[in-house]
Amino acid sequence: MKTNPEKFGATPHQPSLWTRADALKVRADDPTTTQPLVSADFPVLNNDVFIWDTMPLRDLDGNVTSVDGWSVIFTLTADRHPNDPQYLDEDGNYDILRDWNDRHGRAKMYYWFSRTGKNWEFGGRVMAEGVSPTAREWAGTPILLNDRGEVDLYYTAVTPGATIVKVRGRVVTTEHGVSMVGFEKVKPLFEADGNMYQTEAQNAFWGFRDPWPFRDPKDGKLYMLFEGNVAGERGSHKVGEAEIGDVPPGYEDVGNSRYQTACVGIAVARDADGDDWEMLPPLLTAVGVNDQTERPHFVFQDGKYYLFTISHTFTYADGVTGPDGVYGFVADSLFGPYVPLNGSGLVLGNPSSQPFQTYSHYVMPNGLVTSFIDSVPTDETGTQIRVGGTEAPTVGMKIKGQQTFVVAEYDYGYIPPMLDVTLK
Ligand code: FRU
Repeated sequence: MKTNPEKFGATPHQPSLWTRADALKVRADDPTTTQPLVSADFPVLNNDVFIWDTMPLRDLDGNVTSVDGWSVIFTLTADRHPNDPQYLDEDGNYDILRDWNDRHGRAKMYYWFSRTGKNWEFGGRVMAEGVSPTAREWAGTPILLNDRGEVDLYYTAVTPGATIVKVRGRVVTTEHGVSMVGFEKVKPLFEADGNMYQTEAQNAFWGFRDPWPFRDPKDGKLYMLFEGNVAGERGSHKVGEAEIGDVPPGYEDVGNSRYQTACVGIAVARDADGDDWEMLPPLLTAVGVNDQTERPHFVFQDGKYYLFTISHTFTYADGVTGPDGVYGFVADSLFGPYVPLNGSGLVLGNPSSQPFQTYSHYVMPNGLVTSFIDSVPTDETGTQIRVGGTEAPTVGMKIKGQQTFVVAEYDYGYIPPMLDVTLK
């Protein structure tokens, strides 16, 4: 996509491209970029609900923050239905895989708390039924605003449509636990515009979600990352020389790759509170490479911008592939240019023997990476699986220049605080 300065106003940056040539460098099972095997005897956080997409409470600079010594995480959550006739198979057994696969349609925002940064205790739903304007409460970010405990929860209100919204509430602590109060008025912020970001009318499979607000460490302004697709009618995108990149002879054929149009979007706040936003052209596009760059987020380190985003094997374009996991890009300034980490972009992928073991990786500024367990094979052939819907073991990673290295593995759902705020 070419951006037109007249059309885009003050910050006419060119989106950086994740090219097909970059993606050809992806190597599954490289030990430095592969998540250790998750054992099938993992513990389950809570047997009544599935959880996925963990969102640690943090400040606007990205630091994972506890309050009065309590760590807090938000998760997308859905009830499990072991006794619902709808989820019983012909033999009357619970079809957990079908229940799990249906979870997105009934996703709700819940919170959990802990004194130790693991073994999370159930908090409950963040918003009462009826507060959120749509059926699905999809991923976003809870921001601790101040020492009064005020929290802005940015998230995605989905079906009908997909709107980036926020709701303000407060975290309250006692000796015994944490509660979330308020969260009663949801404010719509923006939707895809069809000019920079693809709309539902342009493509029924469009993605527009997963807000991640932050303060730019260099200019101090408030911005927001989100997942999008590049605007245009489905099938109309061109996979040109720039999107293909420098490929060896015989790799120029892109097949049907014009259907893969992921991008990482960015918006800038017009006000200090983040109630009024202007969308800017994408930071990064993956046209002809991949259709989903989900839950984009930053780690700011060594004066650089490390941009991470999760993606799937099934969303890759024809002729390129890679594992489910987290991919990354680095730049010296917010608007790029971004180059893929490790040459390819792959930062932490699933091992090919357990391709769905984890997903929704979130890289924290301390190098710890949290994710959820999707499904783990329980036999040699991989035909029998155990569904997760719970926290995966945390992975420790080092980020050095343009490379990353897996260096450690920690307990399930280990998300230690980087800062503690004493509430007034
Ligand atoms: C990632 C994700 C997010 C979305 C949510 C929906 O796992 O696809 O992009 O907000 O799950 O359940």
